[in-house]
Formats: sequence, structure tokens, C-alpha cells
Amino acid sequence: MTEHDSKPRILVGVSGGIAAYKACELVRELRRAGCEVRVVMTAGAQAFVTPLTFQALSGAPVRTELLDAEAESGMDHIALARWAERIVVAPASANLIARFAQGLADDLLSTLLLATTAPVALAPAMNHRMWAHPATQANIATLVERGVTLIGPDSGDQACGEQGEGRLREPAAIARELLQPADVPLAGRHVLITAGPTFEPIDPVRFIGNRSSGRMGFALAAAAREAGARVTLVHGPTAEAVPAGIKGVATETAAAMHAAVMERLPETDILIAAAAVADYRPAEAQTQKIKKAAPVLNLTLERTEDILAEAASHAATLPRRPFLVGFAAETEQLREHAEAKRRTKAVDLIAANRVGEGLAFGTADNELLCIWEGGERTLPNQPKTQLARALIDLVIERLAERETD
Ligand code: CTP
Repeated sequence: MTEHDSKPRILVGVSGGIAAYKACELVRELRRAGCEVRVVMTAGAQAFVTPLTFQALSGAPVRTELLDAEAESGMDHIALARWAERIVVAPASANLIARFAQGLADDLLSTLLLATTAPVALAPAMNHRMWAHPATQANIATLVERGVTLIGPDSGDQACGEQGEGRLREPAAIARELLQPADVPLAGRHVLITAGPTFEPIDPVRFIGNRSSGRMGFALAAAAREAGARVTLVHGPTAEAVPAGIKGVATETAAAMHAAVMERLPETDILIAAAAVADYRPAEAQTQKIKKAAPVLNLTLERTEDILAEAASHAATLPRRPFLVGFAAETEQLREHAEAKRRTKAVDLIAANRVGEGLAFGTADNELLCIWEGGERTLPNQPKTQLARALIDLVIERLAERETD
């Protein structure tokens, strides 16, 4: 929220859905918190709640039409877009999200969303299958990539009688997220994460891979998004699904992952290299399947690109050097090897874990020894989703330290 003495001006967009009635509570919460609120409703929203309800709750006229001569003669839609210091759409239906992602301006709310320069937050609410549909997920990823903030959705019982992810977040929680940007310490930052293994082709049917599941990198992506960041997840072949609101970039080889990272580095604030990148690849991938003939088969391997090390040396030349986080997977001498990697790869923070004998790779839990210049912290053994949150918190702390230096 901008710092001034007057009340924060929040425009609440209400789109169609049974959860529209909860927007009434949101408007009350925002007014209770001292905000000036204007409500804009889509045609679908009016099937569930009347404009009069929102008018009474917001204490201001409610706009429903793009071309309403009377309303336009007061505050026209461009003036309304300028008036808003922040826009929140709650509930945001699948249809509204699709129209916004496409840049359609076919009613007042979608037009305002295009015309505003204010930060926009969406609180989606819909049936869980509609939420999980690839079309909705692609639209959400596009919008988040453009800087839109996502609030929820939550999981649980749905109005349709089913259960799943797609419930509107509770109005009080939406209001809190809108008004306390401290809850989203990475708002406005772009976090680039590598995750999973790489597959290096030997011939058209065989490859050299490794046991990485990608879970840690995917959990880090979700944790960074929870902290408000725009997240790009460059991943190798894994069974993990890219979490909602995150841009996934699927790659297979170290070379492809390297290209995807280097291309995005200049617009990155934090790079976290969690991928288990192959260090060597077959020097020459055969174009035809290798036949079983010779009793011994020798493969000549060559070094792959060290993505993290190259990103670090390129980062040093950028006007805004990203904060760099590396991982160290070690079977022995954890601290010594990790510290050596931190120095040689010139990264700000290294997160070391033991691998081998059922540890780390492919497991649900892990423990990390995090080392930076002049300090270290052990993040104890815990599920990777929690561990990821703890690591993101540490990155936020170290980044703040670097920025106050
Ligand atoms: N890494 C990378 N590109 C590579 C190899 C590693 O970006 N070609 C990154 C990993 O994502 C990790 C860090 O470098 O963040 C360290 O990876 P690790 O496998 O522990 O170490 P290596 O550099 O491969 O060294 P070694 O295999 O000798 O331990």
C-alpha cells in the first residue's frame, strides 16, 4: 500500500460463482481495516448477489456496466482504473481468469484489469476439476508471470458437494494478504529454480540419468510462490506436477537446462540450483539404436555445462546481480566439500545434503547444512515441503542482509 494519510483505495472485482456472497464479508473486512472500497460486478456475479448489497457494504455506488452513460459521466472506467491503488478479484471464476489471461476487455471488470497500473490480486474460486484443468492452470501461470498475485485457492468441501482445491480463501485471510505485504516478502521478485535430473541421450532409446525425483526443487518453487515471488521452474524429466501459479519450463538435457537458465538470468533476482545435473554426457549420441554385438561397449563421455558455475560468472557481469543458491550432494565430508563448492562456484549460499544409501534422492524428508560467507545453519530433518519453506526463509534473511550491506 502506498504511504499516505488517506485511506487505501481498493477496488474489489466480483465475478460469477456461489462464493460471490463471501465477497460481501471481504468488503466489510477491508472497510473495517480502514480502506476505501469500490465494487465492480460482472453479469455472472449479479446472479448470486445484488449490487445493492455491495453498495450498502462499500458505501459507494457499484459499477456493473462498461457503457453506463450515467456512471461514465461521474467516474468513467479509466478514472476508476486510476482511482484504484490495488485491485482484488474475489471470487475470480475460471471464465474471468481466462478472459484476463487473453487480454479480453468485453465487460467493465476485464476492461479495468487491462487499464489499471495498480497491482492485481486474484482469489480464485471454482470446482476443483475446473481449477486443475490445464487451460486454467496455463492461464494462471501466464497471469502470475505478468506479475498478478494469487491468493488461494484453498482445499476442502466445495459448494458442488465435492472435495478438492478450488475454495475461495477465507475473506479475512484475503484482506490480510492484501493489506500486509510483509506476508509476501518476495513480492516483485523473480525466482528461477532448477529441479530434477537430466537425461543425457546415448542413442534414441537410452540415456544416462540419475535418481533425483525433483521433489526438493518443486517444493522450493511452491515455497517461493507462497512468499509472493514470481517463479520459473526449469526442470528435467520428473513425475512431479508444476504447482499452480508457477511457470514450468520442461527440459531434458544439461545443455537445454543451461540454455533455459542463461536466457532468464538477466531478469532473475534469486537463482536456486536444485537440479541434479549430469556432469558428463555421451560425447556423441548415436542416431540409431546401438545393437548388442561387441562383448564390451565403451562409451566416451564429455563434461556438460556447469549451469550454476556459469550462471555465477555471468551474474557477476549483470547490473543487478542475482542472489545465488547452490546445492551440494555429498556422500562424505559434507561440510568440507560443500564449503569448497560455495567458493569455487562463487555462490551466496550453499545447501548441502548427504546422498546415497536411501538418503535425500527420491525420499520425502531431508536435512540441509546451509553455509554462507561467515555463517552456517542446519535445517533439521523434516518433510521436503517444510524444509523448502525454511530454506526460502533463510534465503530471504540472507538477501536482506546483502541488501543492507
Ligand atoms: N550444478 C549445475 N550444473 C552442473 C552440475 C551441478 O548447475 N552441470 C549445480 C547443482 O544444481 C548444485 C551444485 O551445482 O546446485 C552442485 O552440484 P553437485 O552435483 O553437488 O556438485 P558438482 O558440481 O556436480 O560436483 P561433484 O559432482 O564433483 O560433487
